[in-house]
Amino acid sequence: MTKPKLLIARKLRPAVEARAARDYDVVLNPEDRVFSEAELIAACREVDAVLPCHSERFSAGVIAALGPRLKIIANHSVGTDHVDLAAAKAAGIVVTNTPDVLSDATAEIAILCMLGAARRGAEGDAMIRAGKWDFWSPAFMVGRQVTGRRFGVIGMGRVGQVTADRARGFGMQIHYHNRRRLPDHLEKGAVFHDSVESLLAVSDVLSLHCPATPENTGMINERTLALLPERAILVNTARGGLVDEAALVAALKSGKLFAAGLDVFRTEPGGNPEIAALPNVFLLPHIGSATEETRDAMGFRALDNLDAFFAGIAPGDRVA
Ligand code: DGY
Repeated sequence: MTKPKLLIARKLRPAVEARAARDYDVVLNPEDRVFSEAELIAACREVDAVLPCHSERFSAGVIAALGPRLKIIANHSVGTDHVDLAAAKAAGIVVTNTPDVLSDATAEIAILCMLGAARRGAEGDAMIRAGKWDFWSPAFMVGRQVTGRRFGVIGMGRVGQVTADRARGFGMQIHYHNRRRLPDHLEKGAVFHDSVESLLAVSDVLSLHCPATPENTGMINERTLALLPERAILVNTARGGLVDEAALVAALKSGKLFAAGLDVFRTEPGGNPEIAALPNVFLLPHIGSATEETRDAMGFRALDNLDAFFAGIAPGDRVA
């Protein structure tokens, strides 16, 4: 039987590529080159399936140009904001994602961002690397302790829940806003807020874990930042588009925010030079799920979805 032809758009872990090569007629990208839009369209027109990452954008225009052969976009990501789901559905293209498997890794990075921001991790690291650590006193590099503070979560899905569990380990009180209130066994005593505004008012640390949608673009902006307690800390490991970065810079400069820990930006790769110029930020280059274990698990999950699809079974993680 002919194997379906599969484009793996970025370089994946060896075990994932080996399994894919066993079961599919694979087109790999060993140099890990980023496709231009035209290259992505041309490559997708020649295959039955594509396994992309969030770096490959499937806008309505791209989807319209894909032609009849491509049947499934099996994402190697939990986020699907890089795919126009309505356009894919209209074109009869199935779309899947990789939930669950990256929750632990992303929660670890959220906690790293929180602590790095609260305890001035980047500032201290930069000082030593620059050979400028020539002083110590009890008044030196004093940060904010998170113990006992209120940890606000926007988006209490899988990643939000695991991050809240980790924050509980620091003695933090958990507050959250979510589309639906969680059942008791998942809520674990966290305080539900039925509006973002109510959550913001009590969030000493605010951590974003919701998917990016056209409706919540820029939800953290001048108005909403003003609702946070004085000297709060913002953590974003979800998507850069959730934050109005100009308003964030202003809040970090004014001291309204004590600090921010960010793994995601509006412009990726690259980030925001105005944010990077500030001392009170702890920054990472979108590596929330970048562990060996999680990258394997994401790749296998994407392949599980493809296997189900080509076996005529509904893929478990179908989002369109
Ligand atoms: C995701 O899975 O959405 C992560 O941001 C990595 O792409």
